[in-house]
Amino acid sequence: MAGRREEGECGRRNRAAQSNSNREKKPLIMKIGRLPCVLLFVLCVVLFITYIKWKPRKEQALDSSDLQSKDTNDIGRLSSKNEIFYGIMFDAGSTGTRIHVYQFSRTPSGAPNLDHEEFRALKPGLSSYADNPLKCAPGINELLDIAKKEIPQNLWASTPLVLKATAGLRLLPGEKAQKLLDMVRELFKASPFLIGKDSVSIMNGTDEGIFAWITVNFLTGSLTSHEKKHSGMLDLGGGSTQITFYPYSKNTLTSSPPGYITEFELFHNTYSLYSHSYLGYGLMSARLAIMGGEEGKALKEGEELVTSCLTPEHKTEFKHAEITYKIKGQKNDEPLYVSCYKRVLAVLGGKVERSKEIPNLFFYAFSYYYDRAVDAHLIDPELGGSLKVKDFDMAAKKECKLIEEAPGEKPFLCMDLTYITVLLQESGFPVEKELKLAKKINDVETSWALGATFYYTSIMNKQHL
Ligand SMILES: *[C@@H]1O[C@H](CO)[C@@H](O)[C@H](O)[C@H]1NC(C)=O
Repeated sequence: MAGRREEGECGRRNRAAQSNSNREKKPLIMKIGRLPCVLLFVLCVVLFITYIKWKPRKEQALDSSDLQSKDTNDIGRLSSKNEIFYGIMFDAGSTGTRIHVYQFSRTPSGAPNLDHEEFRALKPGLSSYADNPLKCAPGINELLDIAKKEIPQNLWASTPLVLKATAGLRLLPGEKAQKLLDMVRELFKASPFLIGKDSVSIMNGTDEGIFAWITVNFLTGSLTSHEKKHSGMLDLGGGSTQITFYPYSKNTLTSSPPGYITEFELFHNTYSLYSHSYLGYGLMSARLAIMGGEEGKALKEGEELVTSCLTPEHKTEFKHAEITYKIKGQKNDEPLYVSCYKRVLAVLGGKVERSKEIPNLFFYAFSYYYDRAVDAHLIDPELGGSLKVKDFDMAAKKECKLIEEAPGEKPFLCMDLTYITVLLQESGFPVEKELKLAKKINDVETSWALGATFYYTSIMNKQHL
């Protein structure tokens, strides 16, 4: 049975061809008969591989001679052979809509290199068209025209176009947000670019953290080099705060709460990231909680919020999510820093997950971490810098003491720095732990938009990444 199965069409023909000369030595004939068959097959494979390899090489040869005969501005022409490709990301924020047009080229290793970013912003944000979605069309089309200008026409159809909405749309009633997104999806479909099923949607905090992590680690080179360790990412926004890192310890993967570990593929690698977004623990929401206010709930006439992070001489206002709260300080028997710290700890204590691995990892910190470090003169406003958790703590003590002595221009800095200190400590950062504060890495803005572009490009156009 086995022997018969081995004899194919080819084997039978070979045997017939040689049957005249070697009629008597049947077993040998069978052996000889199989050999030419295998050789023929190998020859076919070799010819096929040679053909495949030779063909693109010939095309490349044509490309370079093409290039030599033209000026360097014509480099975009190479793109038709996938040497250069693009991604378009719309960031629909609460105050405006921004377009990022990224131009990438492939390095010899196959990983992309970011060559150029074109960036444009339009105000107001998408959410301001909630009652009349049609009115958002001119703005979206204006931004799409920028993408058309940037990207060679022959690449339009293969360039992914994505819009991700953040805080502004998250806060709208679901139906209104959906109508706006449907409107944008129609406009995108009418454009010449590549649209996928996830092309237009609201992004949650976990996704935002993961995309920002991808940006940071792409820019530091850890995604494309196997020697470089991945960096963790801390973000402190107004409404939520995110922590995202690559767990090197198995224990982190197995012991983290459900939903904290997200797995995805990028540049032919699989990543399992620890990522969580704490809604209501962004700096502005935290201020409100520390002062005893409730999100979305205005005070009654004549009511005030009283806080142990200000002295009684302080009377001020705090505007958050369209509501203005009247604020005043409180008389304390202990230094302001101490009473404030206690209150912040009462709000935060046990609310954030502490990972054992954090002391061993390197972290970047963004947004309000950066801004408050600038306000406290801990880092350069343009260049950023490095500082330790205890630097935030010492700055908090100093700022609290300053407003204790005389009401100053930054009444909330004592509270904010104390909050940042406690948030880091509660998340498991030792006081001696160093953080890197940056707005840019290698001169590229560290926004989630770049990471999201890689993520969606790899989903929508697998051949690219
Ligand atoms: C965030 O959204 C993604 C889809 O984009 C989903 O897979 C994930 O479960 C969401 N995470 C949370 C915490 O809601």
